[in-house]
Amino acid sequence: MAPQATFSQFIALFLLPVLCLGAVFEDFRKLPRQDYDFIIVGGGTAGSVVANRLSEDPNISVLVLEAGGSNEGIFELTVPGLYYQLTGSRVDWNYTALLGPGNLTFPYTRGFVLGGSSSINWMAYTRGSSDDWDRYAALTGDSGWSWIICRLLFNEHFTQPSDRHDTTGEFDPSAHGFSGINSVSLSGYRHKFEDLVIKASQADGSEFPFVLDYNAGNQLGDSGLIIPSNSTNKFVSISPSLVSPASRGSVTLASSNPFDHPIINLNLLSSDFDLFVLGEGMRNITRFIEKHADIFDGFLVSSAIVSVINITTATDEELEMWIRGNLGSSVPVPDLRVKGAQGLRVVDSSVMPRIPAGHTMGPTFMVAERGAHLIKASWDLDDAQDEDEA
Ligand SMILES: Cc1cc2nc3c(=O)[nH]c(=O)nc-3n(C[C@H](O)[C@H](O)[C@H](O)COP(=O)(O)OP(=O)(O)OC[C@H]3O[C@@H](n4cnc5c(N)ncnc54)[C@H](O)[C@@H]3O)c2cc1C
Ligand SMILES: *[C@@H]1O[C@H](CO)[C@@H](O)[C@H](O)[C@H]1NC(C)=O
Ligand SMILES: *[C@@H]1O[C@H](CO)[C@@H](O)[C@H](O)[C@H]1NC(C)=O
Ligand SMILES: *[C@@H]1O[C@H](CO)[C@@H](O)[C@H](O)[C@H]1NC(C)=O
Ligand SMILES: *[C@@H]1O[C@H](CO)[C@@H](O)[C@H](O)[C@H]1NC(C)=O
Ligand SMILES: *[C@@H]1O[C@H](CO)[C@@H](O)[C@H](O)[C@H]1NC(C)=O
Ligand SMILES: *[C@@H]1O[C@H](CO)[C@@H](O)[C@H](O)[C@H]1NC(C)=O
Repeated sequence: MAPQATFSQFIALFLLPVLCLGAVFEDFRKLPRQDYDFIIVGGGTAGSVVANRLSEDPNISVLVLEAGGSNEGIFELTVPGLYYQLTGSRVDWNYTALLGPGNLTFPYTRGFVLGGSSSINWMAYTRGSSDDWDRYAALTGDSGWSWIICRLLFNEHFTQPSDRHDTTGEFDPSAHGFSGINSVSLSGYRHKFEDLVIKASQADGSEFPFVLDYNAGNQLGDSGLIIPSNSTNKFVSISPSLVSPASRGSVTLASSNPFDHPIINLNLLSSDFDLFVLGEGMRNITRFIEKHADIFDGFLVSSAIVSVINITTATDEELEMWIRGNLGSSVPVPDLRVKGAQGLRVVDSSVMPRIPAGHTMGPTFMVAERGAHLIKASWDLDDAQDEDEA
């Protein structure tokens, strides 16, 4: 693709709240001015949050440059269940990623549209565990990244689930926000199997404890699971997920052409620790189901691998072979400045020094909230977040 062609696809978002001006332009020549106080490259998940926060100061002009197009009027983006149609579509960067050593690749979807990957993702909402944030604070030496501070910045607007069922006792209201911007909810029309899992772990107590709200800091335990629905309501697969992998992947340049896709190597399961945890997770799930067979009675639970190997009797090597064959796809200085560069900060999911325990959108919102906070503090800008936190 010729560079000119790519640049012409850029859309620019110009925000200047003092004049109540926020406008989307698809042509650079239409921009009302040339100078901006801040330029944000990428109108994705983090970029949009930072743009919103910086533009809260009425004297500040913000330009957001987004490579993809507008999210308006794209049907598949507005219907949550249609996310699978977005892979390889016009809102996908169409990257290819290597799974690990060897040449096995698969399509690696990333949002090429205003809102970035948050416009195309599956909308599971997790905030990471308190340990994740405390570890970021320890690694960066900045206590501002600790859970006790960061949990105040999630900017949530907790709302009713789609089926409007009574959620009393299903989440911990004291751990959530009700006056923020991001609408968050429990899932409506829950699968019956989820209720059984919750019932079984409530009955269990000690070994497989029930966690009321996995967004309250502690994720170890069973909680409202997201389970793909199956119209027969009989066959449900359940498998462990490794929420905080030790394996580290890499993104490297393929060439000096900025329009060439990078080489993305997920390097999955390169750590023995990850293999061990997944194997133990398989065994634990099987034990959990067997232990509470009375509750799960009537549900034929294929724990995904039961039909292939017997987890109870499988050796570590057999389990490892199965895990390897069934992979699913699932960092700078503390104040986010780029070393050796002036006036440049990186504020997005890539700065997290370790993958948080859970999905990454919630933590990305958080990183962006704090990033905006840090930028505003260093430029002495008007900060409505100070009042939010109070
Ligand atoms: C298919 C899918 C499903 C997911 N499901 C979930 C989920 O259920 N729950 C969850 O919490 N997380 C989920 N995630 C992860 C989550 O969406 C991401 O971690 C998060 O959105 C990343 O935010 P970001 O701001 O770092 O990047 P992005 O939101 O991807 O934003 C990057 C933006 O920059 C733009 N851009 C890139 N290069 C340039 C350039 N040179 N010039 C201008 N603009 C540029 C891109 O077009 C994009 O808009 C999912 C991700 C994907 C892809
Ligand atoms: C905006 O700028 C004007 C003029 O410099 C100044 O009087 C005002 O206090 C500024 N407002 C804020 C919120 O900083
Ligand atoms: C991704 O592929 C689809 C289908 O070929 C195409 O329409 C879209 O433009 C591609 N995305 C990018 C960013 O080139
Ligand atoms: C992997 O790809 C490289 C480079 O294209 C090639 O040299 C090598 O033979 C491939 N290996 C396998 C196992 O296919
Ligand atoms: C549900 O699972 C059964 C058994 O695996 C399968 O035959 C059926 O096609 C599935 N239904 C849907 C809607 O996925
Ligand atoms: C499996 O269960 C044991 C005993 O309850 C527990 O100590 C261990 O942490 C669990 N492992 C995983 C990976 O969940
Ligand atoms: C797995 O092996 C154990 C011990 O031999 C046996 O009791 C159990 O029925 C087997 N499970 C399956 C699903 O075959």
